[in-house]
Amino acid sequence: MKKSIAVLSGDGIGPEVMREAIKVLNSIAKMYDHTFEYNYGEVGACAIDSTGDPLPQRSIDLCLGADAILFGAIGHPRYDKDPNAPVRPEQGLLKLRKFLGLFANVRPVTVYPELMDNSPLKVDRLKNVDLVIFRELTGGIYFGEKSTTDDGKQASDTCTYSIEEIEQISHEAFKAAQKRRKKLTLIDKANVLETSRLWRKEVKRIATQYPDIKVDYLYVDNAAMQMIIHPRQFDVILTSNMFGDIISDEASVITGSLGLLPSASYGKFIGMFEPIHGSYPQATGKNIANPIAMILSAAMMLDYFEMTDEAEHIRQAVAWAFANNIYTRDIHPEAYLGTTEVGDIIAAYIEDDQFPWFNRENLELGSSTII
Ligand code: IPM
Ligand code: MG
Repeated sequence: MKKSIAVLSGDGIGPEVMREAIKVLNSIAKMYDHTFEYNYGEVGACAIDSTGDPLPQRSIDLCLGADAILFGAIGHPRYDKDPNAPVRPEQGLLKLRKFLGLFANVRPVTVYPELMDNSPLKVDRLKNVDLVIFRELTGGIYFGEKSTTDDGKQASDTCTYSIEEIEQISHEAFKAAQKRRKKLTLIDKANVLETSRLWRKEVKRIATQYPDIKVDYLYVDNAAMQMIIHPRQFDVILTSNMFGDIISDEASVITGSLGLLPSASYGKFIGMFEPIHGSYPQATGKNIANPIAMILSAAMMLDYFEMTDEAEHIRQAVAWAFANNIYTRDIHPEAYLGTTEVGDIIAAYIEDDQFPWFNRENLELGSSTII
């Protein structure tokens, strides 16, 4: 199969982790006889630097002509420290999501047994944690009317949701629950917010079409606590844009590192695949970033292409890497490998799972030499 992929690596560690994902995709292409064509564009702070626009038209055109989009990370401390900046890197990502109608953001949270000690939670809380967050991505307070008064003394962000917006993501989440453990939790703040009450009403109505799914309703403050004390109770989480942003960062750290979690954003005509983590500017250029979230995002892209065996091959290679102590520094500060080396090993394993080519002892000693 031939697929054309728009690659927007973005800022900070984005390009570094993207290189590894593409390395892994190239191994898949080789083994399964596919052709992946990559077309690179700019987004975020690097795009502001070169064009003044966080999402230049050229990048939009690349995405419109592609079968899928791989997205790295965006953000730069220069903007984080300046609340007055007229353009911000994040605007590029938000505009892209809205423009492409990527309403469903899917964030699976898997706990790997080898990494349980890395989690801030006790091991007994982590066993069998396996959940997926369905975050609404093109509505809510992110995209509502915003204003600041002329004297700069007051500002507002409006949260708006329509029944249609709630419906389209809810059906996706219910269908996913049918293929999983058949439980769906709506996270909202229906005791305070009008939009949350609309979510609850709609989800209750939609639930009648999915009688096999058990539906729970949690207020977001309680859900934030439940995520820590009893994460195993969650199967599919359905939530709005803002709550999904917050709860997914919280869920990601319980797995041991923010650098592990992939995500997929689906719309009506294209999918975009990006890690949950940010641009991690402090790590840029040091070959220490964890490429796994980006590599697993590429696997989600292969699922989207209905290349199920190929996607599974990547996930299996990642699980094998963890079982063989192949980690970046965030996971194993004493004995770690570089971003590039982890990518090399995963790509090589995909091409030859007999791995006669690497010396395990070296890896276990934390040397990054592949023999
Ligand atoms: C995410 C990020 C983005 C968001 C930022 C970079 C705008 O945090 O994808 O979770 O808030 O959606
Ligand atoms: Mg976020």
